[in-house]
Amino acid sequence: MAIFPIRTFGDPVLRVRTERVEVFDSALRRLADDMIDTMYDAPGVGLAAPQIGVSKRICVFDAGDGPRVLVNPEIVETSGEWEFDEGCLSVPGHYWPITRPAFARARGQDVSGAPVEYAGHELLGRVLQHETDHLNGMLLIERLDRPTRKEALRDIRNQALGLPE
Ligand code: NI
Repeated sequence: MAIFPIRTFGDPVLRVRTERVEVFDSALRRLADDMIDTMYDAPGVGLAAPQIGVSKRICVFDAGDGPRVLVNPEIVETSGEWEFDEGCLSVPGHYWPITRPAFARARGQDVSGAPVEYAGHELLGRVLQHETDHLNGMLLIERLDRPTRKEALRDIRNQALGLPE
């Protein structure tokens, strides 16, 4: 079991589109296990590899049904609309109401390379979208409207400087 430090806003690894996983070996299984440990330790409901500094297309999540590993995910279907106070382990201490599709379906592979699909409404749908965003180099801040994003960036900067937000 290994717990990794979580990279936070400003770290360039969070802004890079990850590389697809092509090799499904014991190193990948170890990475997935370490990501699950790191997610639960944080604690969080999802974690993408860039958040521990690994630019590979793999994420883990637990939306209430136990730990899941999703490799090379793509969102293939969304519907509806849902506002949720969304946070991110890489932007600790901040939550913003963000509207996204209520339902999402993601396709990818499991840790052995077999095809797998997860789909769900509300929290599961949100986690699938949030983690896939991470793997595309996108943080939740980019999902905010322009005035809210400006305010969010100021709050994050003030927090980093130890100033009142
Ligand atoms: Ni996140």
